[in-house]
Amino acid sequence: MAKPLLVANWKNYPSSLSEAQRLLRELAKKRELFKKVSLFIAPPSPYLESVSNKIKRFGSLACQDISSLAKGTYTGEVTSEMLKSFAVRLAIVGHSERRALGETSKDVASKIDVALKSGIAPLVCIGELERDKDGEHFEFLRQELKLMLSGISKNEVVKIALAYEPVWAVGKYAKEAINPQELSQTVIFLRKVLGDLFGRAAADKVPILYGGSVEPANAGELMNGSGIRGFLVGRSSLNAESLEAIARDIISL
Ligand code: PGA
Repeated sequence: MAKPLLVANWKNYPSSLSEAQRLLRELAKKRELFKKVSLFIAPPSPYLESVSNKIKRFGSLACQDISSLAKGTYTGEVTSEMLKSFAVRLAIVGHSERRALGETSKDVASKIDVALKSGIAPLVCIGELERDKDGEHFEFLRQELKLMLSGISKNEVVKIALAYEPVWAVGKYAKEAINPQELSQTVIFLRKVLGDLFGRAAADKVPILYGGSVEPANAGELMNGSGIRGFLVGRSSLNAESLEAIARDIISL
């Protein structure tokens, strides 16, 4: 069985390079444990080089976004070519915090395309704004998935990973995260939609992660039997002890 995936989304923290380096030193002390999972760190772009140099012994580098634009005069964009030069292997795309800034599912589809063409695995985020007691959010998820994955083939879908991040659960506390039953139901649903789009065999190869208020207090119960292959972790990834505890929980299952 493949190792569980643990993706640390540092967002725009730590607030200085020296603090980021301190966090990396703390994480490096726990490298024997982190080698038992597939650990990815997605730092803010200005820290890519520093993290790239230090993470090699126990994990891989990810990025929080990728430009859908190639070479050109696009002030502020970070292109796939640049990311490749730092050995970035995974790109978070379509995070709800980027969507809140105006990113659409069509934009996400272009980013998936660019990432795949440059050999960077897209970690495609999907999640409803709120749960509907009649289950209408399932239809929303189906449509989102269709739109975001409209440009890719059966052979390409096996190179992506999906992060189910219900927007209402991001940035809260463990007790406000999704419950394991709802998570497992949603994972079955997402896999079914993937199967309808690409066939069962391809759908089964797409790892589905969960994100949204993952902490040591809930990681084990969320992972256990829910069908997810790991986590996309925000706040708790900025604390070496918390990330260590989450890793320990998921490898012990
Ligand atoms: P959180 O963030 O773990 O702080 O809820 C998750 C994310 O935004 O990816």
